[in-house]
Amino acid sequence: MGNIKKIAFGTDHAAAEVRDTVKKYLQDLDYNVEDFGFCGQGSCDYPDFAVQVAKTVANKEADRGILICGTGIGMSIVANKVKGVIAAVCWNEDTARLASQHNCANVLCLGSRTATVSEICRMIKTFLDTPFKERHQIRINKIKEIEKRECR
Ligand code: RB5
Repeated sequence: MGNIKKIAFGTDHAAAEVRDTVKKYLQDLDYNVEDFGFCGQGSCDYPDFAVQVAKTVANKEADRGILICGTGIGMSIVANKVKGVIAAVCWNEDTARLASQHNCANVLCLGSRTATVSEICRMIKTFLDTPFKERHQIRINKIKEIEKRECR
């Protein structure tokens, strides 16, 4: 598990069928899960959950964020508006590994309509188990500089 202990977790209605399984999967791996997701009936708006998870990670109240909507795209667009967040949409274990190893992503965004629940769980485990590789730091510094310059 390394240094990652606390996970901020958020879902919208599109992830209703996978959310409990994924949350339990994380808890069984001994992660402390703070759930900001939608667990009601009907539909909801993914920005409401993505922003809470992203702010929790940016404020260092969680080590990583996991967001699941239909495709992961909407969640990632919102999460990337929050300073300090690098959110990545991933669609297989390779992209989940590289999001952490190369992009230093701290929020993983997945699609319940583009992956099965077992693929989702495997992507999450790969993401959380993979450390960042220092040789990519110069690019991350450039992202941070752009964020400082362009986002007010
Ligand atoms: C909801 O229908 C859907 O648009 C949402 O879950 C997500 O896929 C948006 O990116």
